[in-house]
Amino acid sequence: MAIREILKMGDARLLRIAQPVTVFDSDELHLLISDMLETMAVANGAGLAAPQIGVDLQLVIFGTDAPNPRYPDAPLVPRTVLINPVLTPLPDATGALLEEADWEGCLSVPGLRAIVPRFARIRYAGFDQYGDPIERTVEGFHARVVQHECDHLIGKLYPMRVRDFSRFGFTEVLFPQLDAEGDS
Ligand code: NI
Repeated sequence: MAIREILKMGDARLLRIAQPVTVFDSDELHLLISDMLETMAVANGAGLAAPQIGVDLQLVIFGTDAPNPRYPDAPLVPRTVLINPVLTPLPDATGALLEEADWEGCLSVPGLRAIVPRFARIRYAGFDQYGDPIERTVEGFHARVVQHECDHLIGKLYPMRVRDFSRFGFTEVLFPQLDAEGDS
C-alpha cells in the first residue's frame, strides 16, 4: 500500500470525464483501492475519487467506520467502494426534487469550505471491486457525499456548484474548532 499524492484544483486531470472500469477483481484494481483507502484515511477525507490521485477511472470510495474529525457532527456513512456509478435524484411525496444546502470541503481544494446545494435524496447504483452490484437509496449527508465524490468523475469540483459565494471561505476562519485537524 502507498499514500498517493492528491491533486489540487487547477490540475487539468481533475477536469476529465473518467473512463468506466471494465475489469473487476484484478490485482491492479485491489491495489488501487487499498492505496485510495490509505490516502483517504491519512487525510481524514470523507471520500476520495480516483481522478483525485490522477487515475482516470470511474471509482470512488467514501464512508468510515468511525466518526471523521473533519466532519465530527456528520452521521456515519458505511465504508463503500463504488465503481461505474449512476445517480438518480428522487422526488419527495409531492413529486418535488428537493435540494439541501450544507457545508462541504474537498481534499483537492484544501483549506476551504462552502455551502453547496445537493439533491436531498438519491438512488445510486454501481458495482463494488468484485463486480457485485450495489444499489442504495440514501438521503442527507450520505447523499451529499456520494454526489460530491461522483462529481469528481465528471470533472466537477464543489466550487463549480456554489451559488452563494458569500458562504465560501477558509476552514480556519469558518470553523476554528477544526483548525487542529489540518488544512481541509
Ligand atoms: Ni472532493
